[in-house]
Amino acid sequence: MRHFLTLKDFSKDEILEIIDLAKSIKKEAKRGEFVPYLEGQTLAMIFEKSSTRTRVSFEVGIYQLGGVGLFLSKNDIQLGRGEPMKDSARVISRMCDMVMIRTYSQKSLEEFANYSIVPVINGLTDEYHPVQLMADYLTMIEYGKDKNPTVAYIGDGNNMAHSWLMLSSKLGFTLKIATPKGYEPKREIVDDALNFAKKSGAKIQILNDPKEAVLEADVVTTDTWVSMGQEEEKEKRLKDFDGFMVDNNLMKLAKKDAIFLHCLPAYRGYEVSEDVFETHAKEIFDEAENRLHAQKGIMVWLDRNRKK
Ligand code: CP
Ligand code: NVA
Repeated sequence: MRHFLTLKDFSKDEILEIIDLAKSIKKEAKRGEFVPYLEGQTLAMIFEKSSTRTRVSFEVGIYQLGGVGLFLSKNDIQLGRGEPMKDSARVISRMCDMVMIRTYSQKSLEEFANYSIVPVINGLTDEYHPVQLMADYLTMIEYGKDKNPTVAYIGDGNNMAHSWLMLSSKLGFTLKIATPKGYEPKREIVDDALNFAKKSGAKIQILNDPKEAVLEADVVTTDTWVSMGQEEEKEKRLKDFDGFMVDNNLMKLAKKDAIFLHCLPAYRGYEVSEDVFETHAKEIFDEAENRLHAQKGIMVWLDRNRKK
């Protein structure tokens, strides 16, 4: 049985297999065909943090696959009153067929997965957001940006940056990350990515200059400067990230037909200017919609690999 906790655990072929599934399920849905691949199954969705896209895409996704989603907010279940992760895992996984969790540390997600008897999906941790990256890559394919692309990630070396490091190093494309000093991605995750890059041929650069990162990029992306759980650092972060907004001046340095992606929610006037956001709204909201199709691909893949 496989879990979907980080792209680190997946080979290039497996990532592409999931993407292919997402593509074909999307095509079917666009024709109005909703194949009940997961008929009668229940997906538990545990949220320790807020969510719009992750919740809606998983809940609608499992419904369209013939199953049902169970929304479990931390405050409504005993986990919020101190019931251990491992006990929650042993209870919930006996009653449900799959579990998606959005939590803080990757360690607690792993603990849950270790005690679960059904596949567990990472719906975002402080360290990684792998389900988002599957939607992002699907969007890159749809915009013809999957052939040896250069991706520039500007901003915080957070869960999104870490996930881009995993995707590029597994698939073998160029990734340039620019963060303010002190906000670089975690060293051990960069090292893992550099290791995978030896096999895939990915070129990875960690920089502190957004202009250098964005030069000749095919895809420019960013994320909030203040992730969930960092609210107390907000004032300091807004100062430290000065100069890292993706605005028209920065976008001009990328390739002419570069696309701009954002996992959302976006904070205009901070990590992205209103102009850039609205110019690239088509890509951004295709990306958001692709969360639904990508989530379905991941769930069906995990179901098919249950007995392996
Ligand atoms: N991008 C993303 O995961 O959005 P939500 O926080 O709304 O789920
Ligand atoms: N880095 C952001 C992503 C939100 C989807 C956060 O963790 O809050």
